[in-house]
Amino acid sequence: MSAGILGVGKFIPERVVTNFDLEKKMDTSDEWIRTRTGIQERRIADEKTNTSDMAFAAAKDAIKNAGIRATDLDMILVATVTPDQPFPSMACMLQDRLGAGHVAAMDISAACSGCIYGMITAKQFIDSGVYKHVLVVGVEKLSKITNWEDRTTAVLFGDAAAAVVLGPVSEGRGIISWELGSDGSGGKNLYQDGPFIKMNGREVFKFAVRQMGESAVHVVEKAGLKKEDIDFLIPHQANIRIMEASRERLGIPEEKMIKSIHKYGNTSSSSIPLALADAVEEGRIKEDDLIVMVGFGGGLTWGALTLRWGR
Ligand code: ACO
Repeated sequence: MSAGILGVGKFIPERVVTNFDLEKKMDTSDEWIRTRTGIQERRIADEKTNTSDMAFAAAKDAIKNAGIRATDLDMILVATVTPDQPFPSMACMLQDRLGAGHVAAMDISAACSGCIYGMITAKQFIDSGVYKHVLVVGVEKLSKITNWEDRTTAVLFGDAAAAVVLGPVSEGRGIISWELGSDGSGGKNLYQDGPFIKMNGREVFKFAVRQMGESAVHVVEKAGLKKEDIDFLIPHQANIRIMEASRERLGIPEEKMIKSIHKYGNTSSSSIPLALADAVEEGRIKEDDLIVMVGFGGGLTWGALTLRWGR
């Protein structure tokens, strides 16, 4: 058995906050934000919408698109650094709201790499034949830990949720190779201090450029593939310059990189499945396409995988 993606779903808050809106609130400019990060606008959830509400909406969408019922799930994993509360977990709240059976449910804390960590965890249970359907949700309400007085971080983030249902797929399809890693010594460069995100942007940037490139190359090599085999790269949508660096390291053309940072900003653990959800919705991804996903995040953590699309 090999684990693949059976369905993708997403939830994006209605409220759009553009760079021009931020110009009115803080000492920044659309030009600075666009050229340094590639972000043009982001979605910000309203007061009433919490992380669990976004997770629920994305999960329902993914379950529907996978063509299964919530009662078919064997495990629920939620990647987030902005849960409603430390416990009970978002995964347990989802189990109840979805009406899933009394299945295994837990949250994963790996910041922006969270969804890759979730998918690789799911894969172990599916490959071994223990579980059939695992729901993995990446969700963040980063606006609640954003310091709107700090222009160096406030312009970067957005709120969103995205989800995938993993299950067994036919031979040759699904996740082919993967890599996960961490380096806690870099934790001081990206963390939550009291209520807010703190970041040493330059250090994170250097780490991300190196690690995203290396991990992407590693998983392609591990899968025994060549750069010509890659149909799409879906990097963590943190900064267009970091994303471009990983694309160049892989040596693939621009049109093969999936980008949604301009419309959502950095949505942390939801960014990779969200970019995937849009690409699937737009009909860009076809049966048997070879996709490379790569992410990095607070921890510091990283993760990458190659996947052949289709059931
Ligand atoms: N608007 C205008 N000017 C700004 C802004 C802003 N929003 N923010 C910073 N500046 C200023 C700085 O004060 C600095 O001014 P100075 O030269 O007078 O001191 C100047 O712009 C340059 O600042 P740098 O920090 O050198 O800018 P840099 O080119 O490094 O870009 C950025 C900053 C975009 C944050 C970049 O470092 C980056 O993307 N880092 C990685 C961030 C990231 O991906 N984080 C992941 C977090 S995900 C998670 O796990 C939650």
